[in-house]
Amino acid sequence: MAEPKENPLMEKIVSLCKRRGFIFQSSEIYGGLNGFWDYGPLGAELKRNVKELWWHAMTRQRDDVAGLEATIIMSPQIWKASGHVDTFADTMRACPLTKKLVRADQVEPQSGIAFTFEGSVSKYNFDLGMTLCSALLKQESEDVRKSTLLQIATQIVSAKKPLSDEESKSALEKIKSEIDAIKGNQTALIQQSAVLELVSLLQDGSSKEPFTILVQNGKPPESARKAAGEFYISHGIVEPVLLGETNQKVENSIDFHPESRVKLDSARPFNLMLKTHTGPIESDENIAYLRPETAQAIFAQFKNVLETSRQKVPFGIAQVGKAFRNEITPRNFTFRSREFEQMELEFFIKPDEVIEAIKFSVSSVQPESAELKTENLKLETSANWGWREWHKYWVEERVRFYEGIGLSRETLGFHHQTPAELAHYARACTDILFKFPFSKKDEHGNVAGDELEGIAARSDFDLSQHQRFSGKPMGVFDDELRAAWTKLPKEKQDDLWKRYYDNRKNYLTKCARPDETPEQISKQATDDANGLAKGQYIPHVIEPSAGVDRLILALIANAYSEVTETDDKGKSETRVTMKFHPRVAPIKVAVLPLLKNKPELVKKAESVRALLRPWMNVFYDEAGSIGRRYARQDEAGTPFCVTIDFDTLGEKPELLDTVTIRHRDDGKQERLKISELLPFLLSKIR
Ligand code: GAP
Repeated sequence: MAEPKENPLMEKIVSLCKRRGFIFQSSEIYGGLNGFWDYGPLGAELKRNVKELWWHAMTRQRDDVAGLEATIIMSPQIWKASGHVDTFADTMRACPLTKKLVRADQVEPQSGIAFTFEGSVSKYNFDLGMTLCSALLKQESEDVRKSTLLQIATQIVSAKKPLSDEESKSALEKIKSEIDAIKGNQTALIQQSAVLELVSLLQDGSSKEPFTILVQNGKPPESARKAAGEFYISHGIVEPVLLGETNQKVENSIDFHPESRVKLDSARPFNLMLKTHTGPIESDENIAYLRPETAQAIFAQFKNVLETSRQKVPFGIAQVGKAFRNEITPRNFTFRSREFEQMELEFFIKPDEVIEAIKFSVSSVQPESAELKTENLKLETSANWGWREWHKYWVEERVRFYEGIGLSRETLGFHHQTPAELAHYARACTDILFKFPFSKKDEHGNVAGDELEGIAARSDFDLSQHQRFSGKPMGVFDDELRAAWTKLPKEKQDDLWKRYYDNRKNYLTKCARPDETPEQISKQATDDANGLAKGQYIPHVIEPSAGVDRLILALIANAYSEVTETDDKGKSETRVTMKFHPRVAPIKVAVLPLLKNKPELVKKAESVRALLRPWMNVFYDEAGSIGRRYARQDEAGTPFCVTIDFDTLGEKPELLDTVTIRHRDDGKQERLKISELLPFLLSKIR
């Protein structure tokens, strides 16, 4: 958990998560596994609540969304069709010394003095070369000496690994005899053969690979030389002698590894899918992938869900489940993990041309320019919404969801992807951001936030791809369209036909196989556009795609609140309260008998617990003072504590069968009848 230490609030959050059982490092007893996290007792409840709330909001509370639960491993063809096999890659760069990888776009700018070494030669070969050179110096004429020395020096530097003892001995003997030969015969030919002989003996003793490392301004170069030595040792150079040292001032460079400060290798793509094999034989034919998103199963099962759920476009299919990405640099606690969960909806809509054919016009907003005002958008399935209106609707729906679980609009941000950022098939994508403690400030000191969820308008790309790769039709038949088409004036038909044709041709051209000719593409686009008159089309998709783990981290960061109090003796204590919205809080209510050694109180408290338990997660606690028990619940984020005291038992007759309910966020207490407790709590947690 090294990274968050640079951020004091993240450090506190990470530590609280472990201390209170929200999140643990996976495989911690074996030193952990980078990018993998486990949810402890409180975290598991929090996560379950979030997923259930999403499922309720997206499926059960709507008529137009059906659910799906598909497998994690699917046919590898799915990932070919979706483009993940060929293009789901991040550009990465490696540190040549530590071999650690970083995403090329995530390297922080660094400044300092860059020390560069052109290469290295093992001390043995260096000494050998020097001996030979001095021998030659003594014995050769000026011209011969110069050219020979030059060649020897060049060749020694280009050698690769050190000689064994055996090889060194034989090298020395050969060199001696060559020098003798040179002594006896001064012709250039013989000298060249001597040098060649020497080169063949020495070729494994050095490296010409350059190495550059950044040293802080004003710091001595020893650390750079030490790192360079380690680098050349890792390249097989024994006792390396460094060659060609130079240095240069560097400002805000993104070419150096953030930890080792060594100059990075050149960038190369790295596919993020985790591979495995199905069946007992580990061959290329059996390669399978752990899904990198839940979305593709929805597209692959589109027809089955459509036929069994009796839905009609517009409608959606929702899924919650695990996804896996071999992230190059997992970071910011659970924010970027290698195993995580997604909550995805694929909402299928009619293409704009179809809407126009049926409704004569398309209502459209510009998501980039439109202000996000919830009250403006009401779902009207009879409306003539085009993809822009649907896109905006889903952005609003999702913001409403976040508000409903305690993330106010002030904690959120939006990023409308620019055309350069968009995936090639996407028409628009709005990211909903949360202002995490690690989110960066812009030049004006404002925090935009980091992505919580992306809402993409994916056109008809996905269904079209699966239609092409599987050979199974993914289009739908729409009665309304067929009836409307016949009533359209010819010019309108031609106009819509042409626009639909152009869109299809555009897609087919972009995604063509190498063997597909322009004529075949035009024919396919013509067939697709002719389908309109028969009531046929391939639906378009709006995809709100959220990460469960990022949302959990956002909820934890949002809930974290601490107060430091100093007592009369000057001793200060910091108390943490996790102010979760009651809907997501892991424990909804704690039931606390005032004293544990009074059986009447305990019995009554147990009966209150039994009353509430079928409806919510209840925690029963009788250990310690009531103040300490409240503090423990505040740290767990429990919104309500119910105390059973002597008045509950009727010490004051008018208070018989009443309890004290304490509110976490302001510490206020009120008296409530036990019979009113359940409806009160249900009204808060639902
Ligand atoms: N089907 C579209 C899709 O997967 P994405 O933007 O790659 O789009 C959607 O992922 C959401 O999944 C993100 O907004 C984020 O919340 C979550 N997510 C993606 N990669 C993640 C990772 N490595 N760790 C945690 N959550 C991740």
